[in-house]
Amino acid sequence: MKAQEFDQRRRALMRMMGKGTIAIVPSSGIKLRNRDVAYPFRQDSDFWYLTGFDEPDAVAVLIPGRKAGEYVLFCRDRDPAREAWDGYRAGPEGAVEDYGADDAFPIEAMDDILPGLIESSDSVFYSMGVSGGFDKRILGWLNELRAGGRAGARTPEEFVSLEHLLHDLRLYKSRAEVGQMRRAARVSMEAHRRAMRRAQAGVYEYELEAELLGHFRAHGNREAYGSIVGSGANSCILHYVENARRMEDGDLVLIDAGCEDGYYASDITRTFPVSGRFTAEQRKIYSLVLAAQKAAIDKCRAGNLFNEPHEETVRVITRGLIKLGLLKGTPARLIKEGAYQKFYMHRAGHWIGLDVHDVGDYKVGGEWRELEPGMVLTVEPGIYIPPGTRGVAKKWWGIGVRIEDDVLVTRGEPDVLTGALVKEPDEIEAFMQAA
Ligand code: GLY
Ligand code: MN
Ligand code: MN
Repeated sequence: MKAQEFDQRRRALMRMMGKGTIAIVPSSGIKLRNRDVAYPFRQDSDFWYLTGFDEPDAVAVLIPGRKAGEYVLFCRDRDPAREAWDGYRAGPEGAVEDYGADDAFPIEAMDDILPGLIESSDSVFYSMGVSGGFDKRILGWLNELRAGGRAGARTPEEFVSLEHLLHDLRLYKSRAEVGQMRRAARVSMEAHRRAMRRAQAGVYEYELEAELLGHFRAHGNREAYGSIVGSGANSCILHYVENARRMEDGDLVLIDAGCEDGYYASDITRTFPVSGRFTAEQRKIYSLVLAAQKAAIDKCRAGNLFNEPHEETVRVITRGLIKLGLLKGTPARLIKEGAYQKFYMHRAGHWIGLDVHDVGDYKVGGEWRELEPGMVLTVEPGIYIPPGTRGVAKKWWGIGVRIEDDVLVTRGEPDVLTGALVKEPDEIEAFMQAA
């Protein structure tokens, strides 16, 4: 992502904020796993969106119209001794030179400098409630100003939720962002192909997971969320991540996995038979989910409401389940009663971007939001029939199917970023046999 893109984002946000305001955006911190061992660092998505700066212990400050510089970055100072342990730091100089900050200071100086920047503002834009520790510091600085600790100090009159503006910006993906999401999709699709090729009776679910993760890492990426590899009855567990079972002939395998590339996520689910051939029942359920998914993708058009793809999946799945004898009644009544939820208990999708479940309001003024060009959402209907499901013939038990793609809304046809990965049942069988 070019420096110019981050600069454009900051300018867009500052235009929305207006003069006399300040935005304060902290980075992620290091999270300890135990003792002195940390989890892999992942920058906060809001902070990264505005800065492209991937170090912990930093705070970005935006002050529209400030003559001495609108973009101030606090960050860790250079420290050769610490850098020998933890790696390179840009330091304030690097923040200005390489990251476009107008001004930068060591993070330790924030208590001295930031209240002075806040006091000349009427409104403070900040995301309250994300970090309790940082919330307290903000309140501390405000109290300091209120107590008149500084001669002639003013106190901002209002706090404004930063998410509201920032998350609306993040919802519309630029050309560069879409390019990045296509790269994430390409790597993830190939990872799925590798896992499918590896599948056969006697292989463990974690061996397929290893194929996925190995391919992500071989491209410099990590998973965007915990990979799900559920075979047999495990395909019916929505968030199954143990990935510990030995697969058998006759099983379906559901893989829900995607990497993030340059911080942008992909989110793909495919379901296929371990043996390479669907049973008659598996094929019927699979084909129904696929029909629902395709019909829903066709609803991902500018001007439609966010809920329309979901409603389409509900219609197709309810009618299909009646045809298969798994539901009894009329479609209208079964949809009204939510009878389909016995087999399809989640929604058809979510926004995707820097976060796999990306930010952005789904409703505006209490109504479902209209889809617009540049928005990216997943379409992921499913049908799950765990063993022992009451009122359902045994031949259907243990069938869990979900099919998930990432779809860009355009001015014309929906653009399926993950569409090059096999999903027609005949194609899946041909792919598995060739593997
Ligand atoms: N993998 C998470 C989801 O599909 O929403
Ligand atoms: Mn998924
Ligand atoms: Mn998803």
